[in-house]
Amino acid sequence: MDEFAGKVAVVTGAASGIGRALAERWAGLDMKLALADIEAEPLDEVAEALRAGGTDVLAVPTDVSDGDQVDAFARATLDEYGAMHLLCNNAGVGGGGPMWTLTEADWRWVLGVNLWGVIHGIRAFVPHLVAQGEGYVVNTASVAGLSSPPMLGPYNASKHAVVTISETLRAELGMLADGDFGVTVVCPGWVRTRIADSERNRPDELRNPETEDSPSRDEVAGALDSALETGMEPEELAEMVEQAVRDERLYVLTVDDWTPMLRERLETFVAEVDPPGAAAGASSPD
Ligand code: NAI
Repeated sequence: MDEFAGKVAVVTGAASGIGRALAERWAGLDMKLALADIEAEPLDEVAEALRAGGTDVLAVPTDVSDGDQVDAFARATLDEYGAMHLLCNNAGVGGGGPMWTLTEADWRWVLGVNLWGVIHGIRAFVPHLVAQGEGYVVNTASVAGLSSPPMLGPYNASKHAVVTISETLRAELGMLADGDFGVTVVCPGWVRTRIADSERNRPDELRNPETEDSPSRDEVAGALDSALETGMEPEELAEMVEQAVRDERLYVLTVDDWTPMLRERLETFVAEVDPPGAAAGASSPD
């Protein structure tokens, strides 16, 4: 994709972090924006700030885990602009703990936002891209979609799914006889955002009773917070995403430090040997 001005970019999770930085990036290329987020007030603030800079912005409070709401967001986008060209399925939440301590609600919440949010985005928007014969999809996964860090079971599962969905979508769009399509899957390491505070957006019906909260969950959130501090700025990532979209490149990986781990993972996989730390009891002190 090399022409951006006047085209329409859709961004979910646009009220904070990476989504906000992507929205600002596309605005800087004179695109029109359709922004969604579950947090209505911060979404409005982002929209107002962008409008003040002269960008056309449609802001629709949307829970991406709810298919009807995503359908309504797609309809509102098409009613407003008559077309859309660049879809960024970005909204996501983090959290976890040892998998055997997690509740069904924990799994439903993370998979609902991170996996079903992407599925709904594809289902609601991509038919329009196909019909108009051009379009680009950016899905935000994570380096956790290419590896299996402990304490993040549902998150890892959701992000692995987003990687394979992106790869499959790219192959399927490539099989169309006509049209100009692209897909990028963003697999960042740590980025300085509010993701460690994801619980703020957990719907009441998927909250755990107070008594069920295990200290390990708080420990995971605390560890996540410290790790994020070491990360890159979302604006830097958004710049990398723009370049990948211009190059029509499938993968965005952000940190060279992860490369040896990813290489080792692939090598152990094809050699059918366990990756380090995979054996049960491997990290046990006795
Ligand atoms: P963030 O918490 O700053 O932003 C996430 C946005 O998604 C928030 O505005 C939040 O309100 C929104 N959101 C949450 N649940 C939603 C729902 N059900 N429907 C609609 N919007 C919802 O976090 P961040 O880091 O900017 O997250 C963006 C994406 O980046 C996520 O998919 C995350 O998994 C991914 N990511 C983040 C990394 C990091 O280190 N921060 C690393 C790798 C991937």
